[in-house]
Amino acid sequence: MNIESLWNRVPQPPKVGPFRPGAFSSRLHDERTAAVLGIALGASFLTCFATGLYSHELQHPASWFSAFPRPVGLFRLTQGIHIATGLASIPLLFAKLWTVFPKLFTWPPFKSVAQAAERVFLLPLIGGALFLLFSGLNNINGRYPYGQFNFVDGHYWAAWITIGSLVVHIGAKISTTRTALRRDHTPHLATETTNAFDPTVPTNVNPLRPSPLTRRTFFGVAFGTSGLVTIFTVGQTFAPLRKLALLAPRRTDIGPQGFPINGKAEEVGLQTVDLATYRLKVHGRGIAPIEFTYQDLLAMTPHTAELPIACVEGWSSSQVWTGVSLRTVLQHAAARPNAAVGVAAMVAAPTSQHPHPGRGSYGRSEISAAVASDADCLLAMKVNGEALHPDHGFPLRLIAPNRPGVLQTKWINEIVVR
Ligand code: HEM
Repeated sequence: MNIESLWNRVPQPPKVGPFRPGAFSSRLHDERTAAVLGIALGASFLTCFATGLYSHELQHPASWFSAFPRPVGLFRLTQGIHIATGLASIPLLFAKLWTVFPKLFTWPPFKSVAQAAERVFLLPLIGGALFLLFSGLNNINGRYPYGQFNFVDGHYWAAWITIGSLVVHIGAKISTTRTALRRDHTPHLATETTNAFDPTVPTNVNPLRPSPLTRRTFFGVAFGTSGLVTIFTVGQTFAPLRKLALLAPRRTDIGPQGFPINGKAEEVGLQTVDLATYRLKVHGRGIAPIEFTYQDLLAMTPHTAELPIACVEGWSSSQVWTGVSLRTVLQHAAARPNAAVGVAAMVAAPTSQHPHPGRGSYGRSEISAAVASDADCLLAMKVNGEALHPDHGFPLRLIAPNRPGVLQTKWINEIVVR
């Protein structure tokens, strides 16, 4: 017995609501509209996925991956693209789901095992796509309404599941997409739904009424909204459009010393640091442990570089940093050239407000050999000619090229040679 004859034995759903013949009369529920929006979504999701993976590798490198310092602003660019494509996808996803949702009420729901499998994959595709965009939007707005749920793990694994399902979906729809784009055809989707219910309607009759909304207008609204969302947010990383970033959650010219911060000195009890007792400790593989005072660091050859702080949340801001190159400090500590290193933030002395001060969740980070040996990998003491504000990591912070902001460790007092 084949699957089609099996459906004859199954009672049909009542012909009401979305199952009513002719329930979906708009011509915009057609394959061509779905195909065009699908291609745009495919491009934005795959770009978002590739840039997201790069960000993930920088923060949680696999054994085969080693971060590199040049181009200096690569992460700024890739993360800007990640957030921009994610935001631009939101109107496109809703437009696409509106276009295809009548398909979900087609009877019978599948006519072959392959089609059944293809439709099963729609669940992780739609659920994953909505979850990614919703959780990403929450993240850039600093909202985490998930209780114990970890955003990074959830977003990362949802991305793999969604992209896997998207690849299956593209495989299933590629020939329909090609055919639909080759000709401006008669709407097919709603016709099929309707005729499946009403065998008296010949398949060559199109029961759809002309829609007051043309496909061109519909695309104009979907792509126009997507474009406007981009224009009104991308200024958070693309300086020429900064004044237009009205929908961006962060202004890149607001914050201590004129640019934003995420973690405050107050949160780790480091509003004041006594320079007389401050020491930078260097230890690790192949060297005798050594300590440097703040004065020792000031006496080393200074280095200045313009480098961006590029946050994973999509904002970025370039500043002129002055300090000492990490590699200079490593030379003073007689470390071997091209060593990878770890840096750690100091732990504040306990106070009544902070009885158990810790290093905070991003109080440590690892630096690959290639980045550590770059002259622009700085232990910064000044920004734009002024001593660092406590919120920017006074007395010493890392600022290295091509690196996510969360790894630009602040309040450093320890270097470990790996
Ligand atoms: C996040 C991305 C996407 C989502 C959530 C999505 C969702 C859907 C859904 C739910 C359907 C109805 C499927 C069915 O009933 O069998 C569909 C159909 C379709 N999709 Fe996608 N899709 C996405 C991306 C794409 C891409 C990248 C392409 C192009 C390669 C594409 C082309 C199509 C086509 C041609 C149809 C058939 C429409 C019809 O039969 O009239 N979609 N999509």
